[in-house]
Amino acid sequence: MEKSILKIGIIGLGTVGTGVVKTLKKFNNIKILKAAVKNINKKRDVSLDYITDDPYEIANDPEINVVVEVAGGVDPCLDVLKTAIKNKKHIVTANKELLAKFGDEIFNLANENNVTVLYEAAVAGGIPIIGPIKTTLRGNEFDKVVGILNGTTNYILTKMETDNLSYADCLKQAQELGYAETDPTNDVEGFDTMFKTAILANIVFHKKIDLSKIYREGITKISIDDIKCAKEFGYKIKLMGIAKKVQNKDVLDIRVHPVLVSEKSMVSGINNATNTVLLEGFPVGEIMFTGPGAGEAPTASSVVGDILAIASEISYTDTVLPYSRVKPQDNAIQQDILETKNSYYIAINAQNARGTIGTIGTICAKNNINLQSIIQKGIKEDNTAQIIVITETSLEADIQNALSEFKNQNIEVTNLIRVI
Ligand code: HSE
Repeated sequence: MEKSILKIGIIGLGTVGTGVVKTLKKFNNIKILKAAVKNINKKRDVSLDYITDDPYEIANDPEINVVVEVAGGVDPCLDVLKTAIKNKKHIVTANKELLAKFGDEIFNLANENNVTVLYEAAVAGGIPIIGPIKTTLRGNEFDKVVGILNGTTNYILTKMETDNLSYADCLKQAQELGYAETDPTNDVEGFDTMFKTAILANIVFHKKIDLSKIYREGITKISIDDIKCAKEFGYKIKLMGIAKKVQNKDVLDIRVHPVLVSEKSMVSGINNATNTVLLEGFPVGEIMFTGPGAGEAPTASSVVGDILAIASEISYTDTVLPYSRVKPQDNAIQQDILETKNSYYIAINAQNARGTIGTIGTICAKNNINLQSIIQKGIKEDNTAQIIVITETSLEADIQNALSEFKNQNIEVTNLIRVI
């Protein structure tokens, strides 16, 4: 290669790819040789000398040093990136799904071929988090990494609360702002947060994470009523990724679901598409990274940072960025959600009848559940009562047993949200 010019190929020219091309314009040591897209005739914000619809043209081009993948999804990215790695190309990717599902295979192949795979943009958009965990925070033993990791859902929950807008309107806005994935199911059903949580847990705990053992729940069941009720109790609702060590055991509790967070907590102030990552470790203590978690410019910032990191070393060393390499790892032992302990918000819709609250209390007591608060919010026109229960810390298995008993008594639970 010409000593000072890094030649790259970009796969994907959507929201993030466009941002990367725009940002790279001011760096004359980086040359984009080719871009690969699905539809070469689509009108775009940026123009490039060479655009193809065959990503293998990039993976197999002997002139290209770094393949930048911002297309997303597994197919064809997995095979294309493996081809590129076998051709000794470094990889910069924003593809959280690919890394969460096939990270182990990709990193091992990269090690065999002495190339590096950087993925700062895969988690929390513009927030630098992968780099700090692997470098400046390396001396820590972590107990916990939790966060608001999806801009789309945080935007929707914020707007439902502040503007009283419907879920569908808020989602449409998030899509127009370029926050949502091509298929927003990944955002709203919590898959995107699950991929990011798995990636964080992997680098924080140095274990292989099994996605099929992560409990996942999205935000599609959250109503404006839930948001208002939570507020009356002094809480906000956020979708969070949680990965923590279970005390005194070599076990990880990893899950993704909506949570009620105290209005007084720092997390409750993280609004719109902003993301936050909280780490708890020794010796650092508690540390929180906050910033823009989605969208063209913030995500491009992380991708370009990774490209420049490779550019600064590639002419001088055969082993670029050795700290970024992942060593072989053991499988994590992951806790089942039924074994976790949480406090719970339970929204109930029950027939207006004598003794309903008594029945709820009896079922809870029978299942070892102690109540912290219970309120009935009047009687509706259809003669049903909306009742909100907040429990003390209880075992999830006990809660699920209580929910089955509620069902048998025709006590409808409209939502169950964990409180942290
Ligand atoms: N769709 C993602 C989000 C983009 O809303 O956070 C960044 O991964």
